[in-house]
Amino acid sequence: MQLSNKIIVLGVTGSISAYKAVDVASQLTQLGAEVNVIMTASATKFISPLSFSTVTKKPVTIDILAQDNQLFIPHITLAQTADVITIAPATANTIAKLATGICDNILTCTVLATKAPVAIAPAMNVNMYENSITQNNLAKLQERGFVIIGPALGKLASGKRGLGRLSPSQDILGITCQLLGKQGDLANRHITITAGGTREPIDPVRLITNRASGKMGYALAEAARDRGANVTLISTATYLNQPAGINIIEVETAQEMYHATQKLADQTEVLIMAAAVADYRPTSVSADKIKKSHNTLTLELEHTQDILSNIESRCIKVGFAAESSNVIENARQKLQEKHLALIVANDITAKDSGFGIDYNRVAIIDGEGKVEKLPLLTKKEVADKILNKVAALITTRKPK
Ligand code: CTP
Repeated sequence: MQLSNKIIVLGVTGSISAYKAVDVASQLTQLGAEVNVIMTASATKFISPLSFSTVTKKPVTIDILAQDNQLFIPHITLAQTADVITIAPATANTIAKLATGICDNILTCTVLATKAPVAIAPAMNVNMYENSITQNNLAKLQERGFVIIGPALGKLASGKRGLGRLSPSQDILGITCQLLGKQGDLANRHITITAGGTREPIDPVRLITNRASGKMGYALAEAARDRGANVTLISTATYLNQPAGINIIEVETAQEMYHATQKLADQTEVLIMAAAVADYRPTSVSADKIKKSHNTLTLELEHTQDILSNIESRCIKVGFAAESSNVIENARQKLQEKHLALIVANDITAKDSGFGIDYNRVAIIDGEGKVEKLPLLTKKEVADKILNKVAALITTRKPK
């Protein structure tokens, strides 16, 4: 499991959004992490410690001076064993205490005593959040290396709309995983990943696209982030949840994807083209909506540019081959023609994998033509298999 052997301290402070932290604790536990929850006294007024101990299967620590604490000098033990500390939700009060070093509860003591990275997800009223005192405190913490998650914009407890909502669980989870993977085998590597099917306009209403969902590209982006990489995701799939900790560039057409990719060509060390790029686009785009008055309609199409073949970069290039027959042979041919380090071949006729679903069955072919056939796996698992090979290529690559 992704987080087995990882120890996370999840700090929960007194906000109405404290109940959402149960979901964070549960998901981190399901990923294999040991999650030690610390609650402030006011957090326990919003939600019961029992909710957290039930999902984490661990006792919750609340009172630094309690006789029945199961840990020896609890704040020091928690501080020293943590791989990361995430505080979600973090109130203005706790943020102020952390910024000034006040240690009046077990959470603030633990944070002061730790060498682990700390992420905080503020949640409060918009005026409290925008107050310059809170802003200065957050800036101070950021300067000290704390990672601030959100807050999100939306309806607040007061009924007002504004900045101050706790960020979604998936963002808190994403940043926590990113911090845990900072020293991973892709640490500080620049990786560009493309995702989704491109959309070629016909007129202001219609377009030509394909069945790609973008899920494989997103799984790759998250997996690379969680292994320490600096990831840029060039995506058409804006309907998917946008993962935290990843630089996302939104594009529509093959041409836009080509330009966005080329712009990053000098700085990126690896380009993974998981996108399903249109091979043809309409020769001209009608400025007006095409009316149905015609009996028949013929669209003239022209070739788009092949991004992988035309990109000017010395980066490691990884392609995908979507095939409906002769899967391995066709993929091998693309690997050679596009000068790729790896190609990931999948049979798009398979019912249980590929387009739009969370599973994929692929074969990875390397530069020497060696084929590794993988069983049906989640796209996240496939992503990690591909990145294992990418990491090996990076380390064996001769310097420029
Ligand atoms: N690709 C690209 N630019 C294009 C078309 C495809 O960079 N204009 C990339 C895809 O992102 C993928 C690889 O090339 O990584 C192979 O794409 P695929 O659609 O399988 O094959 P094509 O090269 O388009 O050839 P064909 O459609 O004839 O199979």
